[in-house]
Amino acid sequence: MAPIANPRVVFIERLTSGLPVAGKHFVLDTSRTIDIENVPLNGGYLTKTLVLSPEPAMRERMRDPSVPSYTTTYTLGASIVAFAVVVVVRSEKESIKVGEYMYGQTPWEGYTVQPYTEGRITFKPEEWAPGTFDMDSLALQVVPDPKGTYPLSKYTNIMGTPGLTAFVGMEGIIEGKEGETLFVSSGASGVGSLVIQLAKMNGLRVIASAGSDAKVEYMRSLGVEVPFNYNKESYESVLSKHGPIHAFWVLQDNVGAEALDAALDASVAHGRFAICGTVATDNVQFEERYRLKNAFQIMKKRITIRGFIVPDLIPQFGGQFFQEVPALVAQGKLQSEETIIGEKWEDVPEAIIKMMSSGHGHAGKPVILVAQQ
Ligand SMILES: NC(=O)c1ccc[n+]([C@@H]2O[C@H](COP(=O)([O-])OP(=O)(O)OC[C@H]3O[C@@H](n4cnc5c(N)ncnc54)[C@H](OP(=O)(O)O)[C@@H]3O)[C@@H](O)[C@H]2O)c1
Repeated sequence: MAPIANPRVVFIERLTSGLPVAGKHFVLDTSRTIDIENVPLNGGYLTKTLVLSPEPAMRERMRDPSVPSYTTTYTLGASIVAFAVVVVVRSEKESIKVGEYMYGQTPWEGYTVQPYTEGRITFKPEEWAPGTFDMDSLALQVVPDPKGTYPLSKYTNIMGTPGLTAFVGMEGIIEGKEGETLFVSSGASGVGSLVIQLAKMNGLRVIASAGSDAKVEYMRSLGVEVPFNYNKESYESVLSKHGPIHAFWVLQDNVGAEALDAALDASVAHGRFAICGTVATDNVQFEERYRLKNAFQIMKKRITIRGFIVPDLIPQFGGQFFQEVPALVAQGKLQSEETIIGEKWEDVPEAIIKMMSSGHGHAGKPVILVAQQ
């Protein structure tokens, strides 16, 4: 077979503020080809990329390495590395079979000789000082249902990082009890919609916000008692009317920390707040960021606020996730919605921006389908 096109998304300029720009910070490179039958595997395996999972954490990896954060940064001139579902097309590794599907961090390119870099499969949270967590260490793993009972996009959502994030955070931080009230911001997002479902399964009452009426209806369909559109009703008015709250799952909101402020006021004593995402704030210049007014409530109400990244809690709760969640999905007890925001490699740069832009219109997890199996 003659060499075929091997498109890739290359990182070309670091992001200093605001949103990245397609063509400036990263670009689609269509100049490369690959001979998939003869490319040397050196004991590894060759994968074809099928479903890309654009996620807000990619923005963190585009920053300058001198800016402190929880993760390492992208390499200039190299393919962007992020979550995706791939299929194995050739293998010289005994444990990896042709036709198996895998999910994890991988270069965003048509075909990749794996592992794409040596020594990535290390999972040592105890060694992660701030800024040293290497996202690439969340390497490809064979998916638990290799025969493909579920649509592959589910592995980017309920069976992937968003599901894992919701599960480990609910188990490790929120620890909700029946009858308690949980407030979830961005409840229609990939993570938010799963947090809501886990809360409902555990008998919690849920208040949840999102940026459009369609998202409000989606959250209502998940069983949320008080879904609201933050563009129409203020956090303060809804929480003072429908609170108090026992816990708050913070994803992001369009105005930075306004939801957090209202939640501090509405919290009971000993409330638990899980800070999971801040992408809305990341795109806003420092001077324009919202300043907390109710921070004094943290002490007065002895509120616990814990920021986390999912790998912090995987050692404790990751195994439980893989034992429980695939079964709940198979039984139809947990659902997830994915929205296709691109259908070919040419769509990828704009789709990344779309995913990072405020109120990007979709409910559920954005995915890009770049190839058929
Ligand atoms: N801590 C962790 O380990 C971990 C793991 C996974 C994800 N996360 C974080 O969790 C959050 C949600 O992730 P996800 O995968 O569920 O996201 P998602 O499905 O892409 O949804 C993001 C939602 O956030 C809202 N939003 C508001 N302002 C935004 C902005 N400036 N940019 C982008 N979205 C904005 C939008 O909903 P509205 O229209 O309702 O505002 C959007 O639909 C992100 O902040 C992500 O970084 C954290």
